[in-house]
Amino acid sequence: MIEEIIPSNKTAQSRAVMHGLSGFSVPKRLSEIERDHEERIPVPIEEFSRVLGGGVVPGSIVLIGGDPGIGKSTLMLQMTLQMADKNGVLYVSGEESERQIKMRADRLMRGGENRIKKLPDNLYLVTETNLEAILTHVKTVKPRLLVVDSIQTVYRPDMESSAGSVSQVRESAAQLRELAKTSGISVFVIGHVTKKGIIAGPRVLEHIVDTVLYLEGDRFQAYRLLRSVKNRFGTTSEVGVFEMQENGLKEISNPSEVFLAERMVNAPGSAIAVTMEGTRPLLVEIQGLTSQTSFGNPRRTPNGIDFNRLLLITAVLSRRLNMRLSEQDVFVNVIGGLRIDEPAADLAVAAAITSSMRDEPIRAELALVGELGLSGELRMVGQIDARIREAANLGFKQIIIPRGMQRKQPWPGGIEVLEARSLRDALSLAMVK
Ligand code: TYD
Ligand code: MG
Repeated sequence: MIEEIIPSNKTAQSRAVMHGLSGFSVPKRLSEIERDHEERIPVPIEEFSRVLGGGVVPGSIVLIGGDPGIGKSTLMLQMTLQMADKNGVLYVSGEESERQIKMRADRLMRGGENRIKKLPDNLYLVTETNLEAILTHVKTVKPRLLVVDSIQTVYRPDMESSAGSVSQVRESAAQLRELAKTSGISVFVIGHVTKKGIIAGPRVLEHIVDTVLYLEGDRFQAYRLLRSVKNRFGTTSEVGVFEMQENGLKEISNPSEVFLAERMVNAPGSAIAVTMEGTRPLLVEIQGLTSQTSFGNPRRTPNGIDFNRLLLITAVLSRRLNMRLSEQDVFVNVIGGLRIDEPAADLAVAAAITSSMRDEPIRAELALVGELGLSGELRMVGQIDARIREAANLGFKQIIIPRGMQRKQPWPGGIEVLEARSLRDALSLAMVK
C-alpha cells in the first residue's frame, strides 16, 4: 500500500495561474498555427544524439531511467561536460556531493573519448533537493540545459509526503515540465528503476515527459544500451551502444564487431543471430549448453532471452526433432549482456542448443535468422534485407533465412542466402559435417 497525498486544488490552481497556463485558452485553426523551425541543440555524443532523434529539443523534458549504478549520472555528466561550452548547464544533484561530482568530472576528462581539455566555465553544479530552491537557482543561472539527478530525491515543500513517494515524484516532474515548456530550457531527469518493483519509479513519469530513455545492461558486463521507449521528437526503438570504461562511457559505433570479437569459431554450442535493435541490425553470438540433469527436474536457464521462449524452443526440439532434452539441463547465453526480445533469434537459439547436444559445431561463417513455429516450421521476420546486409558487411559467407515469401527482387548480394522451410532443414544446412 502506498499513501498518496493529493495536493489541494488551491495550490494546483495557483501554480497554473503563475505559469499562465490556466486563464482562457482559445482554439486555433491548425493551418494557422505557426511552425517552429525545428531547432535542436546538437549533442556531441553520436550514439546519444541518435537515440534522442538528432539532438536536444529546446523546452523538452527527457527521462533517463535505469537500474541504480548502471551509469546514468556518468552519461549525464559526460554529456553536460561536452555541451556546457556552448550552452549553459545547471546540474542539480541530490545524490552526490559536489566534491564527488568534481572527482568524477576529472576522471571523465582524462578519458580519450572526451575531446575537452579543461572543465567548461558554463557548467554549474548544486546539491539541492528542494524543488523551490532548484527553480530559484534556474532563475539565477539561466541555463539552457537542466539536469536533475535524481527525481526520487527531489521534493516539493508544499506537499506533505516524503521525497521519492509517487505523488512527490509525479508533481515534481510536472513542475519541471512546466518549467521546460514555459522557459524553453531542456530538462533531463534521472530516475532509478529497479528491475522488479517499479512503484514510485519512473513509470508514473512516462506520460509526463516527452522522451523516455532507458539505460540498461548487465552490471557485471561493460556494455550499456541506451534505448528510447517513448519519443515525441523522434522514432522509438533506437538504441545507442556504449561500453563502461575506467574513464566513462565509450561509444560503440560498430556493435556487431565488438559482440563477436571474443567468439571461438568452431566451438559446439555457438550460433550467430541477427537481431534488430531499432533500425540497426546487430549480430550477436548465442551460446547453448546441454548437460545431463543430475537432480530430478531438468533445468532451463536462459540468459538474455525470455524464459518462455526457451521453453517453446526446447519443446519444439523435443517433439519435432525427437531430441532427448527431458534429461538435459539447457543453458542459453546471449553474449555481451544483451537482451533479445524478438523471436527472430529463435533459429539461432535452437541451433546453439542442437549444436551443443550433438557436440557438432555450426559452420563458422554462417548467421541464422528465423522465428520458430510450433510445428517446427520457420517463419519470416521483419527487415530481412537489413539483416542480410549486415551479415554480409561483417564478412559472413552464408545466412539461413526462412523460405516462403513470394519475393520478386533478389536478396542483397555479397553473401549466400540459404532458405529453409523448417527447423530440420535449417539445422542440416547449418551443421558442419
Ligand atoms: P553512475 O553513473 O553513478 O550510476 P547511476 O547514476 O546510474 O546510479 O555509475 C556508477 C558505476 O559506474 C559505478 O559502479 C562505477 C562505474 N564507473 C566506471 O566504471 N567508470 C567511470 O568512469 C565512472 C564515472 C563510473
Ligand atoms: Mg547516479
